[in-house]
This record gives sequence, C-alpha cells and structure tokens, in this order.
Amino acid sequence: MSAKPPILLAGNWKMNHGPKAAREFLQKLELPKKDRAQARLYVPALSLTSAIASTQEKTLPLQIGAQNVHYEKSGAFTGEISGPMLSEIGINQVLIGHSERRQFFGETNESVLLKTKSALEQGFEVLLCIGELLSEREAGKTESVLTEQLVHVLENQECKTHFGGRLHLAYEPVWAIGTGVVATPEQAQSAHGFVRSLLTKSLGSEKAEDTRILYGGSVTPSNFKELLACPGIDGGLVGGASLRPESFRALWDLI
Ligand code: PGA
Repeated sequence: MSAKPPILLAGNWKMNHGPKAAREFLQKLELPKKDRAQARLYVPALSLTSAIASTQEKTLPLQIGAQNVHYEKSGAFTGEISGPMLSEIGINQVLIGHSERRQFFGETNESVLLKTKSALEQGFEVLLCIGELLSEREAGKTESVLTEQLVHVLENQECKTHFGGRLHLAYEPVWAIGTGVVATPEQAQSAHGFVRSLLTKSLGSEKAEDTRILYGGSVTPSNFKELLACPGIDGGLVGGASLRPESFRALWDLI
C-alpha cells in the first residue's frame, strides 16, 4: 500500500482579499517548509495573478488555486472563468462544488460532475466539496446526501482514475461553515469514515487511502489539532481563519 498523502492545509478566502490585500497577506506570511504537509490558498479570481507573483517572490511553500472553473473551455458564459484562462496564468488547482456555490449560484451535483470531469481532463488538481445541510443531518440523511453527492463522480470513468492522484475531497457540513459551530471530532470522524467507505467500495482500498478527505467548517487554531488527530481526517479547508496570515500560520504550526 502506498504512503499516506501529506496533510493539506487549504485556505478558502471566498470573496475576500483583492489583489492588493492578497499581496499584503503574502508579504506578511512566513511559512516554514514541512516534509509531510502542504499549504494551499484558494483566492478570488481577480487576486490569482498577484497571489502567484507574491508566492514566487518569497518562494513560499504554498500553492495558489481558484475557487471555481467552468466546464466549457470558452463561449457564451458571461461572468465565468475557464480552465485555459487559469492555466494561462499558471494555476493548476481548483476548488469545485463549494456549498456556497451550490447554495447561491445554483450548482448541482450534475454541474459539479461536469466541472470536475472537465477540470481533470484539462490537467487540474481538484478539491471537490461535499456536505449536508443542518436539516438533512437532523432528518438522519447525512449519509444519503453524501452518497448522492458522490455517486456520479464515483461512477464516472475520468473521475475514477484520478481519485487519490489529482482528485481529493473536502467534507464540509454546511451547518458548520462560517457559523462558529464546528463538527465534533466524533461527527467529523464518522462522516469521513463513511465517505472513505464509499471510496473503498468503488475504487479499492489503495486509491481510497490515497484520496485526501479534508474537514471544513469553522476550523480555527483552537480546534484544528483535535480534528487532525482523528483517523481519516487528512487536513482542513479553512475559511475565516485563513484570512489573516497570523492565524493561517498558527494552523500550519499545528500540523
Ligand atoms: P469557515 O469556512 O472556516 O469560515 O467555516 C470554511 C469553508 O467554507 O470552506
């Protein structure tokens, strides 16, 4: 069996930090290199160029990624960003299917599949987000929602081959995002275990183990260590606590 993938600390800036603020953040950020961990920031589209330039200037051990990508390579899709455009500026990381994209911008499991497939075909590494609403958890539907969100991806041949290579997952219970209500280690561990079992059934245990499953939702420096200690949690996708260099660094120091 292959070695476990390095722990990933991924920040999601959402619609925060324009090009100037991105530069200032990265100028302040000190990030010592670690052998068994990777750091990444998903920044707004308009800040990608400035973030890449600042990261390269300081040779920070940090990958810069986009928060969204369209499944078509070009065309009449006002306001969207395509894979070739991202590649042209040196981006090879994308976040797909974040719950805010699903909730506010009409993304569905179908469009998430199209995007994931297309991004993988174009050579991107994809972090695919899944997670249940509070009402779904309360109705005892967490596992069926997670299954629905993953089933088409797990059935798709293109996606299947890339799990554990360029396709990884973030489990983000929607009720924990931006609310300050973090999932308990037990809740997170149980959802991660369930997702891993779906991966194992479809892909076999080696690919399932090679696939990172990040936890996201109100991760802070005060709860990250406890979450990381849970078997099956391979890192964090962090919104609010990734917005200041000091707290991003504090999270990094906990790995
Ligand atoms: P949060 O956001 O850490 O602010 O809860 C996480 C996310 O939406 O990825």
